[in-house]
Amino acid sequence: MEAAIERILISPESLKTRVSALAGEIVDAFGEAPDGVTIVAILSGSIIFLADLIRELPMRMRIALVPVSSYPGRTTRSRGAKLESAALPDLAGRDVLLVDDILDTGGTLRLVQREVAAAGPRSVRTAVLLRKRDKASPDVSVDFVGFDIEDVFVVGYGLDFDGLHRNLPYVGVLRNETDSGS
Ligand code: XMP
Repeated sequence: MEAAIERILISPESLKTRVSALAGEIVDAFGEAPDGVTIVAILSGSIIFLADLIRELPMRMRIALVPVSSYPGRTTRSRGAKLESAALPDLAGRDVLLVDDILDTGGTLRLVQREVAAAGPRSVRTAVLLRKRDKASPDVSVDFVGFDIEDVFVVGYGLDFDGLHRNLPYVGVLRNETDSGS
């Protein structure tokens, strides 16, 4: 295990099993989407989750990748979400599945859900791999959750600290001392 990782929270095997099950829940929910689904994935933390999830979804889909940042550089404290550009595709009349890596304070999803809703979709559902169960704001609703986790800063399986650790095949807890708080 990498020195920066204090412990493994979710193993590669558990990730695989749960992502498959989540895909099943999503297929059931979108069964009646006549024109398939439009996936709006929030970059960059969702990349591995997205790649694994979509290969388990046997349905017609369009995929849009939307850059949003909230943890620039060497910090584990959110600076508030910013949608990097007007990167949303035409969502009018579409059945949308928003995909994000983690629901933490909820700032990111609140912002993106608002923007997506304003684009006039037929329906919007949200899937997150992880949710910090004691922290997530109740006004941000998600439909599909991979794992509820404790309030620790996690990396791996797409999630990073200062651009590092996205390639770890597990979700691990970052050692405290790596946070400069700057
Ligand atoms: P909010 O607080 O807006 O956070 O719900 C969502 C975004 O912030 C990032 N984030 C994390 N990234 N480990 C990470 O590597 C974490 O524990 C963590 N918590 C939040 C992430 O990009 C997410 O989309």
